[in-house]
Amino acid sequence: MTEITEIFDTLEYGPAPESTDPVDSWLEQHDREFSLWIDGAWHEASGGERFETVNPATGRPLARIAQGSDADVAAAVAAAREAFPIWSGLSGHQRSRYLYAIARRLQRDSRLFSVLETMDNGKPIREARDIDIPLVARHFYHHAGWAQLLDRELAGQVPIGVVGQIIPWNFPLLMLAWKVAPALAAGNTVVLKPAEFTSLTALAFAELTAAIGLPPGVLNVVTGDGRTGAALVEQSDVDKIAFTGSTEVGRIIREATAGSGKRLSLELGGKSPFLVYEDADLDSVVEGVVDAIWFNQGQVCCAGSRILAQEGIADRLIQKLKARMETLRIGDPLDKAVDLGAIVAPVQLERIRTLVERGEEEGAELWQPSWSCPEEGWFYPPTLLTNVDTADTVAQVEIFGPVVVLMTFRTHAESVLLANDTRYGLAASIWTESINLALDVAPKIQAGTVWINCTNMFDAASGFGGYRESGFGREGGLEGMWEYVRPAWETDTGHTEDEASGASFGETMMAEPATDAAGSHQVDRTAKLYIGGRQVRPDAPYTIEVRSPDGALIGEVGRGSRKDIRNAVEAAHSVQASWSAATAHNRAQVLYYLAENLSARATEFSERIAACTGIVTTAADAEVARSIERLFLYAGLADKWDGRVHHTPFRNVTLAMPEPLGVVGVACPSESPLLGLISTVIPPVAMGNAVVAIPSETTPLIATDFYQVLETSDLPGGVINIVTGSRDDLAEVLAAHDDVAGVWYFGSRAGGAAVERLSTGNMKRTWTNRAGGRDWYDPEQGEGDEFLRQATHVKNIWVPYGE
Ligand code: NAI
Repeated sequence: MTEITEIFDTLEYGPAPESTDPVDSWLEQHDREFSLWIDGAWHEASGGERFETVNPATGRPLARIAQGSDADVAAAVAAAREAFPIWSGLSGHQRSRYLYAIARRLQRDSRLFSVLETMDNGKPIREARDIDIPLVARHFYHHAGWAQLLDRELAGQVPIGVVGQIIPWNFPLLMLAWKVAPALAAGNTVVLKPAEFTSLTALAFAELTAAIGLPPGVLNVVTGDGRTGAALVEQSDVDKIAFTGSTEVGRIIREATAGSGKRLSLELGGKSPFLVYEDADLDSVVEGVVDAIWFNQGQVCCAGSRILAQEGIADRLIQKLKARMETLRIGDPLDKAVDLGAIVAPVQLERIRTLVERGEEEGAELWQPSWSCPEEGWFYPPTLLTNVDTADTVAQVEIFGPVVVLMTFRTHAESVLLANDTRYGLAASIWTESINLALDVAPKIQAGTVWINCTNMFDAASGFGGYRESGFGREGGLEGMWEYVRPAWETDTGHTEDEASGASFGETMMAEPATDAAGSHQVDRTAKLYIGGRQVRPDAPYTIEVRSPDGALIGEVGRGSRKDIRNAVEAAHSVQASWSAATAHNRAQVLYYLAENLSARATEFSERIAACTGIVTTAADAEVARSIERLFLYAGLADKWDGRVHHTPFRNVTLAMPEPLGVVGVACPSESPLLGLISTVIPPVAMGNAVVAIPSETTPLIATDFYQVLETSDLPGGVINIVTGSRDDLAEVLAAHDDVAGVWYFGSRAGGAAVERLSTGNMKRTWTNRAGGRDWYDPEQGEGDEFLRQATHVKNIWVPYGE
């Protein structure tokens, strides 16, 4: 027995383990064997295959879990489909009551859930008990609110249908909550596939939903490994897939769903920068690093795994960090006084070891505390790597463990360059006592979340999600609700098989100007491409004949190539930052002026539309008038598409700022050539993007006339580029281009599928016309918020505020 006086002498921690009784009795109730949760009841897996789930802190098995087969996934999807009309037919208020009941029950059973999470995942009980589980309950409370407010806050929207959700092992129940709460609030039904290492809290949650009387089939849980996830992705009766996990699997899912009409949201990996400026409060920074990289053993998608320290303070920071690391306590995750628990599985431990070894081989200096890790279970000590170069593996690859790299910078500009020198864009934290500096840097970082003088803060009211290869879509708050609804007018999910692309156009060489019957040379009137504010000949000397509906030749346009698209992207890229930095008022002015110039040439455009499409003059007049009005609409909206301020319940406000994606490729619709062009090119431009547009293939002359209007406006060269040619060929080049951040495609099903499939290089956002053709005259379909949401992504900036 330790004497109290001895404790005073040594100040050693005694053991403070949380009891496992509630978990043991719950596991025993199930004989430590679990089947699948389908249609509100346990369902034996068809293949009878089971696997063990193990406590990572001891290596000992906890229970056996069912490996869901294709047939099981199909049964779960069928149950969800059957429940959909019932669940979506309830009023928002009725659904709200269920979500509220879930939240209450979670709070009641919080001890079971926290201990179970800790035993299954290896995370410290302190984190499961004080962070994960309370946040889970908070998500259900918050989304009970959205269910209640649906008609008011998301008017005109309906649920998507059956949603397949695939989650990782790092925050098993929290990721479930992030996905299930908004899906159910909006009226969708769910098939959830937990991660194979950590299925237990999802299964306990399934039972909880039965206890509160959730109708059968609304939530189904199919356990299993990646094969089960893949089966869910492949199910044709699933309307949306929401995935959190590695970028690698995110890519596979993007490809697998391409052209299926399934909606997709992806929350993928990160290599988030943690920027420390020389005026930062270094003691707070050190605690920040503890939260950034040692929270959950660094198995956090938004972990601050790259410390970028200003040169003058780097050495002092390293000293302080080492001192703090020495005092971190690793051990039994059930011990309430432990800081670091176990790594989820041997495979993950091995991955961390291999990457750290690679780092050392590449020249990194490794520092770990002097104490050693427990012998039993899978543990890895907190690790600091210095002498790291930004191109090194450990500075680029997500390690997903308690390993942080530290690099230095001199100037603020250099810090931004280093911060953005990653293919990811999930999060960043900025540490400085200067509000001016923090708020100068925040908009420059390519990341979906920016924490100022804090890190790893989450709340149900704030959206969370990535830029770049960290994925797309948001979870949390109103931003997250948009992922689970669709416009009510979209009635079917079939694409129009549109005629245009690949149609047989007469193709001629442009080398020699044609001669007429009398042998005199005609003027070369081939409309050129419009790139970087200038009319340019296409790279290859080919043209496309443009004919009126009655077959008469009415002009020729250049046949743009891969090279022309590359040039256009480069032109767009070089101007995009300054265009987005222009004030919204400036952008509005430019759009009003464009409308004015179009108005001045209304008759000419109307005649051209009539000649190209064969519609009557009054209809052509109407198209021009509507196009002018639409320009006014986006000029009006340019400075009104504001962000929000989320009231996150800490010493913070969270600024939800819509930001442009960057360079956006737009394959314009064939119908309504002028209105279709304006409706799809102007919203991204209004939001600060630069656009490479492929105009309608059948009526490109409207677009080539339009650039004459652009030339007389104040639009900076490169903000709108127009490349005529084969829509689908060019759209594919845009989809595969790594400097294009988003592609909108309004064409055939096959073309949309190709765009989605080819978008995986940089995981760009795509928007294809899943609902078939739009009526561009209908304000619900042809204009408005949906377009602006697709043209932007939200950055959530957590700013200290109040006490
Ligand atoms: P993973 O991406 O393979 O697993 C995530 C989920 O996807 C699991 O439920 C898994 O069963 C499922 N899955 C796997 N293959 C699938 C497929 N082909 N189709 C559908 N679902 C599939 O991640 P894993 O292997 O567990 O971890 C590997 C690395 O991924 C980690 O070291 C880390 O770098 C990263 N990761 C990132 C996470 C994040 O939150 N961003 C979470 C987990 C892992």
